[in-house]
Formats: sequence, C-alpha cells, structure tokens
Amino acid sequence: MKGPVLIFDSGVGGLSVAESLRQHYPNTAMCYACDNAWLPYGLRDDGLLAKRIVAVCQAAVDACQASVLVVACNTASTLALENLRDRLTIPVIGTVPAIKPAAAISKTRHIGLLATKATVGRPYTQRLIDNFASDCLITRVAADALVVEAEAYLAGATPDMARMQAGLAPLWAAATPSSSAYPALDTVVLGCTHFPLLKTWLEQLAPVPLQWVDSGDAIARRVTQVVDELISDQPDGRCFTTAPATNLTAGLARYGFKAPQLLDVGMNMGAEHR
Ligand code: DGL
Repeated sequence: MKGPVLIFDSGVGGLSVAESLRQHYPNTAMCYACDNAWLPYGLRDDGLLAKRIVAVCQAAVDACQASVLVVACNTASTLALENLRDRLTIPVIGTVPAIKPAAAISKTRHIGLLATKATVGRPYTQRLIDNFASDCLITRVAADALVVEAEAYLAGATPDMARMQAGLAPLWAAATPSSSAYPALDTVVLGCTHFPLLKTWLEQLAPVPLQWVDSGDAIARRVTQVVDELISDQPDGRCFTTAPATNLTAGLARYGFKAPQLLDVGMNMGAEHR
C-alpha cells in the first residue's frame, strides 16, 4: 500500500526540507515527526542519541504507516543513518552537509560550514570534506544558538539579531578579506536544516554577499528518484511530537501540517534525559 513520506527532525528544521519537497512535488503526501523532547540534538551524547533516534523514527513510521523516511536532520543523519537502515524496512533518505555542491561553486576555494557542534565534528562530515572538497579550506562554525532562534521563529517570535550575530561572528571573520594567507570564504553550507528557515536574516547580517547552499533540493530529487512509486498522492499532513507543542501549531500550519499529536515512543527515554 502507498503511504506518506515521513519527514523527521529533532525540531522544526525539517520543515525547510518539507518545503523543498513540496515545491518540487506539490502532491506528495507528507507527515512530520520531531523529537522536541530531546531538542537540541547537536549538544547530546552520541551513544544515547543514536538509540533515541532509532526508537523515535520507528514509532513515527509505525504511527503514520510511512512508505519512506526522510531524516531531515544533519545531526541525526551523520550519526544514525546505518542504524536506521538496519532497523527499518522502508527506504531511508538522509540529509548530510552539502559539501559537494558547495565545492562545485566556490571560486575562492574557501567554504564555511555552519552546523551544530555535533555535525561539524563528526567523522562522516570529515569524509565528505576529504572526498569532495579536499582542495578547499573549510571554516567550521558550530552555531547551536541558531537552532534556538529558528525554533522561536516558528513559534511566532522574531529571531534575536544580537544572539544571531554572536553565533555568526567566526563565519563573518572568515568571510571578510584580511591580511591572512587565505582568501575570504565565498560560499556557506547550511549544514543544519534549521538554518534555511533563517536565511532572510542570514543574508541581511552577512558583511558581504555570499553563496548559501543547503540540501533541500537534492533531497527532494532523491525522494522521487528512489521511491516515487511508493508514495501516496492523497493529502496527509499529520504531525507527531514527543513533547507537547501547541505553540508550534500556527507555524506548522504555514508549512501544510496539522496540529501536532503526541507520539508514544514506547521506551524509557523521555523528558528525564533533557
Ligand atoms: N536540524 C538539525 C540538523 O539538521 C539539528 C538541530 C538540533 O541540534 O537538534 O542538524
């Protein structure tokens, strides 16, 4: 039976991927699940987090009878893609930092990687850099504070510009021509799915024009290449959270999702680990 695509993230970041998918394929049935009880993922212990991701994704796939899982989270994908593919019987599509497309367009061969603390340090990320951008200088900026700003934005607040600037300062330093031996970076990988939600402000705050690259379009193309025939075209839009999230109802509706319902993860890994 054809089911929906399930988009999974720790929080609202996966909505940027849902948006790309909807732009390419407006009739794709989609559900959304986020593990907001454990947000943010980027500052968590890897061992516990890998188990948690598998448990939540399994519960959410069962709850909506998904045909395909899109792990719309770089922090989860760079850690647990293999575990998820071992456990689930449906295709699993991951989101990893768009190093390859960034290397294809950077003229100065200096690229910024803006992601969570976990993602910038992961061996998976290093392999992407070695394989696709070995001739580039990569400035890695852990910007977990921006995850909080994106969550607040979806809940109706205006992002705090001072906090954003503080988190972005190392990126701007590398984007500004200086007397250092390296040319300024000209391209930034948005290696966290929360960050495209803040793109308007990122562009405004940048000291020079930059090329911004995220993974949304590539994932949308991948979904149809791999699994088009599996996915229902009947509207869906159910949304599952692991902690109450009524503050997100209006923001989710803007992205075509219904009011969130609580997901039973079925294991003793709830809010006590927050
Ligand atoms: N949206 C997630 C990502 O793409 C990370 C957010 C978090 O730290 O929970 O990495």
